[in-house]
Amino acid sequence: MFASRTNWILNPNRLTREIEELRQRGIPLLDLTESNPTRCGFVFDQAAILAALADTRALSYAPDPRGLLGARQAVAAYYAERGITLDPGQIYLTTSTSEAYSYVFRLLADPGDTILVPQPSYPLFDFLAGLNDVRVIPYPLIYDQDWQIDLPTLEKRLEARARAILVVHPNNPTGSFVRRHELAELLALCVRRDMALVADEVFADYSLAPDPARVVSHAAVTEALTFTLSGLSKISALPQMKLAWVVVNGPEQLLRSGLARLEIIADTYLSLSAPLALALPQLLESRRNLQPQIRERMMANLQSLDARLAVGQPVTRLRVEGGWYAVLRLPSIRTDEEWAIEFARRDGVLVHPGHFFDFSSEGHLVVSLLTKQEVFDEGLERILARVANSA
Ligand SMILES: Cc1ncc(COP(=O)(O)O)c(C=O)c1O
Repeated sequence: MFASRTNWILNPNRLTREIEELRQRGIPLLDLTESNPTRCGFVFDQAAILAALADTRALSYAPDPRGLLGARQAVAAYYAERGITLDPGQIYLTTSTSEAYSYVFRLLADPGDTILVPQPSYPLFDFLAGLNDVRVIPYPLIYDQDWQIDLPTLEKRLEARARAILVVHPNNPTGSFVRRHELAELLALCVRRDMALVADEVFADYSLAPDPARVVSHAAVTEALTFTLSGLSKISALPQMKLAWVVVNGPEQLLRSGLARLEIIADTYLSLSAPLALALPQLLESRRNLQPQIRERMMANLQSLDARLAVGQPVTRLRVEGGWYAVLRLPSIRTDEEWAIEFARRDGVLVHPGHFFDFSSEGHLVVSLLTKQEVFDEGLERILARVANSA
């Protein structure tokens, strides 16, 4: 009856079953994976957000496959603040970056073609690729004081059907940005092998400290056909608004024909609603109120983490440059999943096991730096005590 692309393992994994059981028993849990910004105690300008959704122009229908011009101009202004000049014609609005990924995969790849994706990274890529009949080939990010793209291995893994290289800038959950010299090599590969570059920049505004070696934004890339994805879910901490975009850039001819084809894809769905498109300038503006709160929370949680890890703990944290997460390294006397289950069951603390993000070795746990401070502190105390007692 069903397409083979939907042959997923539908049974919940051990950790999910364990957490479900604890919840059913009414056990209070400290959730160190909380990354829904609307549940983290941040103060939103409710009146301004709701007013933005009540524009009377939304009562008439004026479809545009790229999304309303005024909204795209607001996105262009966002990039202009980063020194990048874009024509609103290079911007397509979508209801999520997931939808933007689908558009881009449909544009670039035939069934069975491949996309290179970083490992470890965002767990949704397998699903997004599978739903679009594309296969992912992971390329490693390696950690040695900081994270780097393993470029020689990436190159070895390229095969005839590779259509694009995907980067996440900064990556989830490693918090690592693409460096200029890495981008230069990726672009050389893309040009040589007729591939596109796809850059997910949803966390790009959450850098902990500036670094001139980093790429500012892939939206400025013109050497190869490049798709840069971002949206309100992280920029303005408004995932429920379902508003994202893709910026297309590249060599002139490729850019022109890419945009024209993308227009047909977008025109087929016309998925973004008028109230949202009209609200975009105001919703984007609300980042100025939200981002400082998020940055403050991230810094406070990192400081608390470092203060606790300073005292000769068997737990360390990996370097983080940005994004919303921190990666902890634990003794590999248990698998990541066993650690996560033990913390949940015995300490009432929830963390993500590294394998969730496809870390290539055991011993990694991921925590959200958005977690409320008191929850983060108490959860950490419990975890560290458990590891100290187990090691
Ligand atoms: C790397 C990355 N891209 C995209 C998203 C989701 O974006 P959207 O809500 O626009 O689909 C996430 C969410 O966590 C993410 O981690």
